[in-house]
Amino acid sequence: MFRKNTNLPKRMLSFIFCNLFINFVNYGNCFLNFGVYSMHFEPFKIKVVEPIPVTTREYRKSKLKDAHYNLFLLRSDDITIDLLTDSGTGAMSSKQWSAVMDGDEAYAGSRSYYKFEETVRSITGFKHIIPTHQGRAAERILFSILGGKGKMIPSNTHFDTTRANIEYTGAEAFDFPTSIALKTDVLADFKGNIDIERLENFLKSHSRQEVPLIMLTVTNNSGGGQPVSMENIRKTSEIARSYGIPFFIDCCRFAENAYFIKTREKGYETKSIEEIAREMFSYADGCLMSAKKDGLSNTGGFIATNIDDIAEKAKVLLIVTEGFLTYGGLARRDLEALAVGMKEALDEKYLEYRINQVKFLGNELLKRGIPILVPTGGHAVYLDAKRFAPHIPCEQFPGQSIACEIYLEGGVRTVEIGSLMFGKYDKDKHFVTSPFELVRLAIPRRVYTNNHLEYVAEVIGKVYEKRDQLKGMQITYEAPYLRHFTAHLEYLQ
Ligand code: F0G
Repeated sequence: MFRKNTNLPKRMLSFIFCNLFINFVNYGNCFLNFGVYSMHFEPFKIKVVEPIPVTTREYRKSKLKDAHYNLFLLRSDDITIDLLTDSGTGAMSSKQWSAVMDGDEAYAGSRSYYKFEETVRSITGFKHIIPTHQGRAAERILFSILGGKGKMIPSNTHFDTTRANIEYTGAEAFDFPTSIALKTDVLADFKGNIDIERLENFLKSHSRQEVPLIMLTVTNNSGGGQPVSMENIRKTSEIARSYGIPFFIDCCRFAENAYFIKTREKGYETKSIEEIAREMFSYADGCLMSAKKDGLSNTGGFIATNIDDIAEKAKVLLIVTEGFLTYGGLARRDLEALAVGMKEALDEKYLEYRINQVKFLGNELLKRGIPILVPTGGHAVYLDAKRFAPHIPCEQFPGQSIACEIYLEGGVRTVEIGSLMFGKYDKDKHFVTSPFELVRLAIPRRVYTNNHLEYVAEVIGKVYEKRDQLKGMQITYEAPYLRHFTAHLEYLQ
């Protein structure tokens, strides 16, 4: 358990300098961040545990081959640490589990719905609260109403299912991240912002009829889990109002975004997370939420809006495909868990621990010289595959090759967010790569300890040491939409 400390003063000095350096590189106040190692512990005790499988490299090799080198196609029983997603993978609190027992499973008028509605309204301030079974169901309903051929929907960066749901209706999805967002090695406070100038130019060159909606994703998941500033949300709202276009927030990580505003944006230092969240929503006409993230629940989502016309149409679609207005495709006990979870996610101590845990993993990787997107975001650390494996061209999916090797090395599952996820074919059937080539290590909420994450860093460190041996990959099968979920791949020789 305890290692022999033969040269303690020297080791302590080097530890201190190493941490100061990492904190300097990875953003922020050195002295505050130094506390990551000594003060920022989990603000909870563990009541239930679940064993995790430990496998051999030989075993993983055969499983990965069976999964056609697509980590989505692995069984979770074959994974030691699962960082595929932070969505629906969190641990619920004892208060949430108690609330689950109190679920009122009535088809219509369930009291669990009214608890959920009250919580969501108290945080977002919106009039209509329409539950769905998860985020993409909310997307499908909203874009069935506002999308369609000839329509264009701009955002800072649409998430993959959001983009797919827009495109599925025949509409087009546009991303306007700021130029700094693409510079993975440059520190900035709000790399998730939308580029206001590009948005305005876009609106000037299209009619109001062509642009039915403006969106902001907070935090900006596909852009590195980076936050959006209050100023950027306010400006987007002003522009949307001046053009008479509805403005919606994709708010699945709203609490993490609010924490970044509190700790980084002038004027918000003394405000509570709830006040900040309320202000964020006050600038919008509605929101879409996958509550599997900052709802701290294993399932659920919703549409919330002040626009009566959209709500009317959404409610009809909800009943057609999701369920009645007071459950929307969820068991009522799930609404109970959400009503508690949405509030727990606003707890500042929890958020401090959460954001610091992500930073902890980022620091462990930086210590090993591994290129990551800095500063670390709200829910994940992103490896920069272009700098990690520069010898693999983007059309050969460097991120996927790294993700496969990380699994082979230590049973850790991550996800490529690059050309496998976002690359597409132009009208001449040429493959257009994604501006980012990232591998995301998404951290489930309240699930893993820093010991688990230290192991993850060791595994990735080993892969990084032999990065020259990583090989490019090619797709052997792909579906017409959301290719990355089901694609088959193989290594290029
Ligand atoms: N919007 C954002 C920003 C998301 O990150 C997600 C899901 C969705 C919408 C869709 O929500 O999964 O409940 O249908 N993100 C998960 C992820 C899947 O891994 O980042 P959903």
